[in-house]
Amino acid sequence: MTLPKHVKIVEVGPRDGLQNEAQIVPAAVKVELIERLAAAGLSAIEVTSFVSAKWVPQMGDNSAVLRAVLSSTKRKAGVAYPVLTPNLKGFEAAVEAGATEVAIFGAASESFSQKNINCSIAESLQRFVAVADAARALRIGMRGYVSCVVACPYEGAIDPAKTAWVAKQLYDMGCHEVSLGDTIGAGTPAAVQCMIDACAKDVPIDKLAGHFHDTYGMAIANIYAALELGMAVFDSSIAGLGGCPYAAGASGNVATEDVVYLLHGLGIETGIDMDKLMAASQYISRQLGRETQAKSAKAWLAKRSVS
Ligand code: HMG
Ligand code: MG
Repeated sequence: MTLPKHVKIVEVGPRDGLQNEAQIVPAAVKVELIERLAAAGLSAIEVTSFVSAKWVPQMGDNSAVLRAVLSSTKRKAGVAYPVLTPNLKGFEAAVEAGATEVAIFGAASESFSQKNINCSIAESLQRFVAVADAARALRIGMRGYVSCVVACPYEGAIDPAKTAWVAKQLYDMGCHEVSLGDTIGAGTPAAVQCMIDACAKDVPIDKLAGHFHDTYGMAIANIYAALELGMAVFDSSIAGLGGCPYAAGASGNVATEDVVYLLHGLGIETGIDMDKLMAASQYISRQLGRETQAKSAKAWLAKRSVS
């Protein structure tokens, strides 16, 4: 078993993390968080989502946040700033605000697709084709997400073949990367490896990413299991922020700090500066008025207070 030498982390805290916050976080705080994450060395930071503000009020400032990030003097060259776009309306608004990379998001579960984006899987794929065509015409990069890749909050276990089928549809549509989301964090390493093996038959492993929520505390184990299969892109959320508004009880993504700690401990390069990452984690935790969910950040803080 050879683990990858380099791993890319896609930071999803400003979107997946904050979308679940009941209190509206000021746009300026979101922008500063994104700037701090870029300064820490993250090369891909999901900025916001162009969804309905009636559905997800926290993302109602999407255009303002994206414009501010892209026009900031602190914008870092080489950093990708993708945004979620569920349909053509969202795509057009994202482009208007300057987006250069978008992400479409589907599901391997019919019930979750209905709850999350108000349509069936088949309807969602039709909407995505329209987004993909528009993105291709404008040379805008497109990422894809599949939610509920191992389990669904409404349907229980999901057949790996179903996940693989949806992942292939997104890949064939032109997604440069398909992120496999364990939305409710119910997966365990064997189930995750079985699901990734199924997907990798249809989509090359270097085009697949892992997106593990940490509800059951399995995310780090699942990342290790995915590394063993050669996966080298993982989504994570600073301070372990977040959840999903349409998956009750789902906790945040695995914390970026914990993933970086794991990867650096394994000798895998990430390009991320741990001290700057911890500072970004402290910044957003203070702004939200609560403790970080990242175990490594808690340990780092405790060590600093005794030294
Ligand atoms: P809908 O109600 O079915 O849309 O919502 P519609 O086309 O019937 O339009 C209804 C109204 O919404 C209209 O406005 C449209 O203009 C408006 P009205 O005439 O009533 O004033 N509308 C929009 N407004 C802003 N932006 C848009 C947009 N589209 C239509 N893009 C829609 C469909 C997808 C918009 C809705 O269901 C929605 O916004 N859902 C939110 C989905 C979401 O953000 N979920 C969380 C992110 S996914 C996630 O967290 C999982 C992930 O992390 C991976 C994992 O963990 O598994 C990615
Ligand atoms: Mg998620």
